Amino acid sequence: MVLAKTKKELNTHLSPINTGKELGLVPTMGALHKGHISLVNKAIFENKTVVVSIFVNPTQFNTTEDLKKYPQSLKRDITLLQKVSDKIIVFAPSVDEIYSEKVASKVYAFDGLDKVMEGKFRDGHFDGVGTIIEAFLTLIKPNKAYFGEKDFQQLQIIKKLVALQGIPVEIIGCPIVREPNGLAMSSRNERLSKTIREEAAFIYKTLQTAKTKFGMKSAKQISEWVEAQFEKHPIFQLEYIKIADVSTLKPVRRKQKNKKYRAFVAVYAEDIRLIDNIALN
Ligand code: PAF
Repeated sequence: MVLAKTKKELNTHLSPINTGKELGLVPTMGALHKGHISLVNKAIFENKTVVVSIFVNPTQFNTTEDLKKYPQSLKRDITLLQKVSDKIIVFAPSVDEIYSEKVASKVYAFDGLDKVMEGKFRDGHFDGVGTIIEAFLTLIKPNKAYFGEKDFQQLQIIKKLVALQGIPVEIIGCPIVREPNGLAMSSRNERLSKTIREEAAFIYKTLQTAKTKFGMKSAKQISEWVEAQFEKHPIFQLEYIKIADVSTLKPVRRKQKNKKYRAFVAVYAEDIRLIDNIALN
């Protein structure tokens, strides 16, 4: 594993590599967990060299408070990646290195994919994600880039981004990795107390039950059922439940046999916001 903190250092590591079709990118904001490591392992399996970027991207946070609280553990992350493979180049630039002129997002036309769910509750979030991912894809030029399905909306938006901007890269979605109790792995989980982290099994259990109801009930009935479960719960506050078409992310009105649907939730545990989703069919 090697570490590059500047674009120049990154280029020094990348230029001697005759990657052909075999350079992978795993973009992260650090505070790595088993979910990230599963992406890195897949990327290592499929590529000769893998760049793992560690960059807490300021333009995708809607509040400075949320940005400040985001866990950072670069030393620990590097130690972890050292154990994974010597094919890895860690790219951990500073904010100035990436946003040399102005810390601001580009504005994209994501066809409404960014106006629902996370986009509705986190204004400008996906323009920030798009800006940094476009910057990294342009700089690193990987053949494949890997993203987790926990952020399913992000994954669809990044697929849209590369189509819009004509970036020649394959975007690969990878399954959600869960803690033993079912809680979707997230860097934010580190901020949960032990009790709440255990109780958070409730989120995935509720989604699993929603899935079992999908064959029999309408999307509206299922959403109302999920809302009722959260209303009764003493810890978790539901921000939204949406049952949506996976490709348009539009809420399902009438289910169609040839379409795929997912249920998406955002949940607060005290001031910590968690998201999760499940394939329904
Ligand atoms: O999913 C994340 O951690 C971030 O949104 C990403 C894709 C690394 C962009 O900053």
